[in-house]
Parts: sequence; structure tokens; C-alpha cells
Amino acid sequence: MKVGIVGCGVMGSAMARMISENHEVTLFSRNKKGVQELAKEIGAQAALSIEDLGKQCEAVVLAVKPKDLEEVAEDLDPAITKGTLLLSILVGTPTSRLGECFSNAKVFSLMPNLPLLCGKGLIAIAETGEELPEEKEKVNQILKGLGTTFWLSEKLINPFAALTGSNPAFIYLIVEAMVQAGITMGFNAKLSEELVLKTIEGSIELLQYTGDSPSALQKAISSPGGTTIAGLNQLEKRGVRYGILSAILKTLERGKEMED
Ligand SMILES: NC(=O)c1ccc[n+]([C@@H]2O[C@H](COP(=O)([O-])OP(=O)(O)OC[C@H]3O[C@@H](n4cnc5c(N)ncnc54)[C@H](OP(=O)(O)O)[C@@H]3O)[C@@H](O)[C@H]2O)c1
Repeated sequence: MKVGIVGCGVMGSAMARMISENHEVTLFSRNKKGVQELAKEIGAQAALSIEDLGKQCEAVVLAVKPKDLEEVAEDLDPAITKGTLLLSILVGTPTSRLGECFSNAKVFSLMPNLPLLCGKGLIAIAETGEELPEEKEKVNQILKGLGTTFWLSEKLINPFAALTGSNPAFIYLIVEAMVQAGITMGFNAKLSEELVLKTIEGSIELLQYTGDSPSALQKAISSPGGTTIAGLNQLEKRGVRYGILSAILKTLERGKEMED
């Protein structure tokens, strides 16, 4: 499929890299030199203008900042063929708002997270009930290779962003603290990080392999009066559980404030 990417910043470039593995990609962004370099690197085309991109593509991924939506839509919408798929990743921009800006496109509001950089992203697509099966299939085909996709009702898009979007940063904070503990106990930083990452990897695989709940596995590791229960009690005493819970809920609250 011929897929256009408008806005080649952090997310647009990452999506362009992955989508170009399965589709013919055309790029357009404000930074013309950067776009030409990226196009060369991933075997894509750099469009001369946004109108040029619009005329060529069956689907367009919109990856500019929300503040640039109207400016882009003014130039792009008149150029596209009726029914072109418009996949927006703009945070806080629901399908209804996209529909107001793009009268010619079939619009889809997406919420991706950053691990799509390595093909392990999670991408929610807001389902309005008005999508044709063939349109959904085309969207799935475009996103294939970026990670796992979920079609969700629009009211779950912001909670999805709160649970998956900022969470990688929280996980990195936990990794950082664990690595620091390793260094404190005498491991060099590299080995400490390797041990922590492999422990996390193994813990997740065990959860999936056994199908047990996290709390069942916690109990299995905690012998009575032993070391693990002493550590778990310390985490509870320090409010780590509530800290993580409230951090995720705070991201949802902050997202709503930013929309208003
Ligand atoms: N970063 C994340 O983790 C994340 C996660 C989910 C969703 N999102 C959404 O993804 C979108 C992009 O985020 P980002 O972090 O990739 O931002 P970014 O790095 O600032 O990228 C935006 C790109 O759009 C270009 N641009 C702006 N106006 C343009 C125009 N009129 N025509 C063509 N290109 C234009 C910018 O060019 P210049 O640099 O030259 O201005 C820049 O390259 C945002 O809407 C954000 O809400 C981001």
C-alpha cells in the first residue's frame, strides 16, 4: 500500500522506519533536509509538498503536534482522494475533531506507545462502529510490524494512553533503582543492569508460562520469615504500590487537564 507520513519527528520517524518494511512510504515534514536523509536511509520517497504526498497515497499517518493539526489539514485535505485513510496519532484529538478537519478522509484516532521503535509497541485504535471491515483490515496491515494493535471504544483511549504511554518511563525508574542497588552491593554498572533486565525478563516469562497471578507467584517466592517477605514489607511500608497506582492515575488526570 502507498502510505504517507506527515511529521517526521520522534514518532513519525519511528513509524516510517517500521511501516517502510511492508509498504511503499512517502514522507513529508517541515525539516526538508532531515526528511531527505531519512527517506534515503529507509528506502522511502521524500514528497516535494504535502499536496504531492496527499495525491499519491491511499493512507496517511499524521504525526505532527496537535497544535499543527489545522494548518496541516488545510493543505492536505483538499489534495487527498475521497476515502483516503487518515491515521492520526495526535494525543487528545478524538475522531470527531479529526472528522471536522478532514472532510475527504476516513479518519482513525490512534494511540501508540514508544516501544514501537523496536516493533514492540502497543497501539490502540478508537472504534466508532462506522468502520468498514476492509478499512479495518487496511489499518491493521499498515500497523503490522509496529507491535500489537487493539480496537477499543473511544472512551478507553485516554486510559489506554495512561496505562501504556507513560508506563515505560516508570519502568525505567524502577530499573534504575534496582541497578543502583546492585552497584551499591558491589556489582559494576554493566553487570548490575544485565542482572536486573534478565530478572525482569524472566519474571514476566514465568508469569506468562505458569498463567498464575502476580500475587500467587509473590507468595511462592516468599518463604515464611524469609528475605523476600522482608523486602516486600519494606516496599509496602514505603508506599511503592500506591505510588505506582497514583502515578498512572495522575497521568490520566494530567491528560484531561491538557485537553481542556
Ligand atoms: N512522543 C510520544 O511518546 C508520543 C506518544 C503517543 C502520541 N504522540 C503524538 O505524536 C505526535 C508527534 O509527537 P512527537 O513526539 O513525534 O513530536 P515531534 O518530535 O515534535 O514531531 C513532530 C514533527 O512534525 C513536524 N511538523 C510540524 N508541523 C508540520 C507541518 N505543518 N507540516 C509538516 N510537518 C510538520 C515537525 O517538524 P519541525 O521539527 O520542523 O517543527 C516535527 O518533525 C504528537 O501529536 C503527539 O501527541 C507522541
